[in-house]
Amino acid sequence: MIDQRILPNRFEYISCDSAKSVAEAIKLMVVRGAPAIGCAAAFGIALEGLKLNKENNKNFRKKFEIAFKVLAESRPTAVNLFWSLAKMQKVFNENINLSLGELSEILLQEAISIMEDDIKINKKMGAYGADLLNDGDVVLTHCNAGALATAGHGTALGVIRSAVVQGKKISVIADETRPFLQGARLTSWELIQENIPVTLITDNMAGYLLSKGEINAIIVGADRVAANGDVANKIGTYMVAVLAKRHKIPFYVACPLSTIDLNCPNGEAIPIEERAKEEVTGYRNILWAAKGVSVRNPSFDITPAELVTALITEKGIVYGPNKFNLNSFLTKC
Ligand code: MRU
Repeated sequence: MIDQRILPNRFEYISCDSAKSVAEAIKLMVVRGAPAIGCAAAFGIALEGLKLNKENNKNFRKKFEIAFKVLAESRPTAVNLFWSLAKMQKVFNENINLSLGELSEILLQEAISIMEDDIKINKKMGAYGADLLNDGDVVLTHCNAGALATAGHGTALGVIRSAVVQGKKISVIADETRPFLQGARLTSWELIQENIPVTLITDNMAGYLLSKGEINAIIVGADRVAANGDVANKIGTYMVAVLAKRHKIPFYVACPLSTIDLNCPNGEAIPIEERAKEEVTGYRNILWAAKGVSVRNPSFDITPAELVTALITEKGIVYGPNKFNLNSFLTKC
């Protein structure tokens, strides 16, 4: 996988050969972004199968059990991780009586299909979402919901990419996204690669630009959407959604159906990851905070459904998401 920690300065791959090494890569954010984490976890199980088969491991059922557990514990908020592990577990259970060689091949095929489907889904979301953007729009996005955060194309950036492919001139305002800088490092890098105009701002500049009428729409991704339409996404998203309401700017959330978690009745039920204080007190080897200061580092926040103009999914758009219209939309899907 691409080591996203060192982008944009260096582009390097790291190799994983077991569920444990993939779980470690997810935890350390070598790979990040909800759909990408889901794909990585599926490959974690597939790699474990290949490894156990190579070792001709007789204790493979127990080893798989540990592999599923280790991956499920890697990060708590993005539901795509649990969604893809559930898919892999189902395939595992259905083929448990086959030889280890056959089982591991079937698991590998399932991981490949999760990855390939993710790209197709992103393109479908992109097509629905692109219709919401007008030629000349300036779109603000938060964090990185691009190709790097998915198997390819992206969710929020996928919508922007698709609009550009339709011939619309779209320019992007990228929030820096403290503290891990996904906007400064990853969104900016991705868009520069494709010649889509992008301007970087620090997170606290969004209100000023919105108050000046410089932004036409906001599009973000999601790590989990609750049954009532509340959205968990990168810390700072809620702040942007409140600003969008104040300035009457549409606030769109691009999310595949795999991000919608009907087991969470509302945002309160979504587990929010707290990460290391070092992400806030400095960056890499630089320390800028006062030594000994106490620190909070919630990595995600909840945007209440009432602030969301629409969810953009691969099956269509849900305007003003709430418990009732989301449920009836999903029933029709
Ligand atoms: O902590 P991260 O970088 O994994 O958080 C990623 C986000 O919050 C993204 O916006 C979200 O996963 C949607 S990605 C298509």
